[in-house]
Amino acid sequence: MGYSKSVYDRADRILNERRLDAKRKAERVRNAFYEKYPRAKAIENELSHTFTGIARAMLAGRGEGMEEIKNKNLALQRELSDIYKAAGVSEESFSPRYVCPRCSDTGNVDGVVCECYKKLIKQIACDDLNRRSPLDLSDFESFDLSYYPEDCRQKMGNILNYCVRYAASFGKDSDSIVMTGKTGLGKTHLALSIANEVIKGGHGVIYISAPEMVSALEEYQFNREGARADITLDILSECDLLIIDDLGTEFSTSFSKSAVYNVFNSRISRGAPTIISTNLTLSELEKSYTDRFLSRVTGCCRVMYFEGDDIRLQKKLKG
Ligand SMILES: Nc1ncnc2c1ncn2[C@@H]1O[C@H](COP(=O)(O)OP(=O)(O)OP(=O)(O)O)[C@@H](O)[C@H]1O
Ligand SMILES: [Mg+2]
Ligand SMILES: [Zn+2]
Repeated sequence: MGYSKSVYDRADRILNERRLDAKRKAERVRNAFYEKYPRAKAIENELSHTFTGIARAMLAGRGEGMEEIKNKNLALQRELSDIYKAAGVSEESFSPRYVCPRCSDTGNVDGVVCECYKKLIKQIACDDLNRRSPLDLSDFESFDLSYYPEDCRQKMGNILNYCVRYAASFGKDSDSIVMTGKTGLGKTHLALSIANEVIKGGHGVIYISAPEMVSALEEYQFNREGARADITLDILSECDLLIIDDLGTEFSTSFSKSAVYNVFNSRISRGAPTIISTNLTLSELEKSYTDRFLSRVTGCCRVMYFEGDDIRLQKKLKG
């Protein structure tokens, strides 16, 4: 699996922290209980002593006095259980509440890596990558339909509504999307808005521009010095949502064409959603890549046609 060591180290630290946190909280709950029911603490102390007393007596082969200790023990246990009942608690109430009860936040169940660990690794790798992205710059609230001419406002409104719903109900069966249209029409704005919402929902999202993606894959593939270990075919294929921005602006080579196809195709084959934003029309996409790529795109994606007048320019002119 193509994740860097630092990703695993961080995941281990997070799990460790989760475990400690769950134990600390459980300890606090127990202490609060003892504060309210000091007799319970006294009984538990006494019980632990009588248990040692029994063990000692047995080891020394002394039978006498055992019956008495046992009876005392039973009486204490009954008293403790009455206190528990009156307080409405059980031993269970004091056990740590782990984020993942399956593996008790250890990351593995019977030697097999737990799903929570895989998810954590994916999220850390995505967070790492997205730290360089303008993710906090766009949201649905700031998407203003009044920038679009009247004749396409309704259509753009439908696109906005679709994206809002898409982000709110995102899951592994969500559609793949191609956003196509001229420059400055809000493609990146909407793609980032989706990314933000989907990340809030706890999914692993990677937002990356096509040029950055292609050059990172190239450096990695050819093992160039300084190659980034955070962008690999594995990571791009496995994240929950991949957003490839500005497709068509990367330097076009046979490597770039096959890299784009491979990433997209590996995701489509897994049924994993991808969002592509591009200035290219569908026929230009066909010319720039391959008809195989285009048939994958048209067969598997919802295509959104962005219309209107360059909003970047409108905003600039308005000052
Ligand atoms: N509907 C909108 N309401 C408010 N601001 C918008 C809207 N659409 C775009 N913008 C703003 O206009 C600028 C350009 O938009 P954006 O980057 O999304 O365009 P784009 O379609 O991705 O263009 P390009 O094809 O050049 O990448 C950004 O600052 C964006 O926040
Ligand atoms: Mg853009
Ligand atoms: Zn787990």
